[in-house]
Amino acid sequence: MSPTRRALVAARRSLAALPVTGLGLVAGAVGLAAATILPAPALAAYPERPITMIVPFAAGGPTDVVARIVAEPMSRTLGQQVVIENVSGAGGTTGITRGAQAAPDGYTIMMGHMGTHGAAPAVYPELKYDPRKDFAPIGLASGTPIVVVARKSFPAKDLMELVAYLKANSEKLNEAHAGVGSVSFTTCAFLNSLVGAKPTRVVYRGTGPALNDLVGGQVDYMCDQIVNLVPQIQAGTIRAYAVALPARSPALPDVPTTVEAGLPEFQVSAWNAVFAPRGTPPEIVRKLHDALARALKDEATRRRLLDLGGDLTNEAAQTPEGLQKLVESEVARWNKVLKEAGAAR
Ligand code: MLT
Repeated sequence: MSPTRRALVAARRSLAALPVTGLGLVAGAVGLAAATILPAPALAAYPERPITMIVPFAAGGPTDVVARIVAEPMSRTLGQQVVIENVSGAGGTTGITRGAQAAPDGYTIMMGHMGTHGAAPAVYPELKYDPRKDFAPIGLASGTPIVVVARKSFPAKDLMELVAYLKANSEKLNEAHAGVGSVSFTTCAFLNSLVGAKPTRVVYRGTGPALNDLVGGQVDYMCDQIVNLVPQIQAGTIRAYAVALPARSPALPDVPTTVEAGLPEFQVSAWNAVFAPRGTPPEIVRKLHDALARALKDEATRRRLLDLGGDLTNEAAQTPEGLQKLVESEVARWNKVLKEAGAAR
């Protein structure tokens, strides 16, 4: 057994006797203990083997796409492969719970997002992690604006027609989302509440598979992250009604904003960010952060994200401290929005 592993096992054993009730607290406490006992050589040599990045949704969707784009240059910088593991379920909270409870040794990290680290506490009272306390933030990877899209044959020419159609027919319509608390779930809950729509909400393991069904016409509409949609919108296989931002996305210059299209109240944006479990030693957090920051300065990586509509302007949240602030403000924001939309539990 390596010294690192031995230290972690000892920390777990000593914590087993503690009278704690919340699993998040256990995970955090294990992390904190381990952070103080990792031997210096293990820190200096890190990483000595591949790093797992948990993507809490199906392969091929927006979280997976962003993760794979940044994992490649991060692997080059770190000198070890960053391997993507898709662990989907419960709107992303299954994979993030597993990541939060992993050994805080830098070998398990996560690609979280506005749902897993913003909206989830409002919709899962029994959530086994606290986005504000149980992670070591590494940095924001990309902002991902929301686009309202529908199947190609949807009978509405523009956003106002879509709103009217939703109001009149919503009980006959199917809206696709990636699970309670996911970005697609929360943003369309907000849209539905604004326009008074009550569609059947069809759950997928990610909006990658949901998009396949939208293209196939099995579902009617969804609110999704732009990085999942640009190729299909450009190919004309789905209809795009509006980007939920004050300014148009350079990746979709022909798609109006919700302000231009007549629904200025619908302003939402999502994001993807890298997290490690709480208690990950600061030296390792710094190495992971430097690798991510370098990836986001790499011209080819930037181009790939920008071409898919990724927003790289929030440089403040690219730091661990800035990301922590973003998480805190998003938890508060989505708690309010989802309560008002009647989607909080
Ligand atoms: C979401 O709705 O949260 C995402 O689109 C999930 C995904 O990456 O599939």
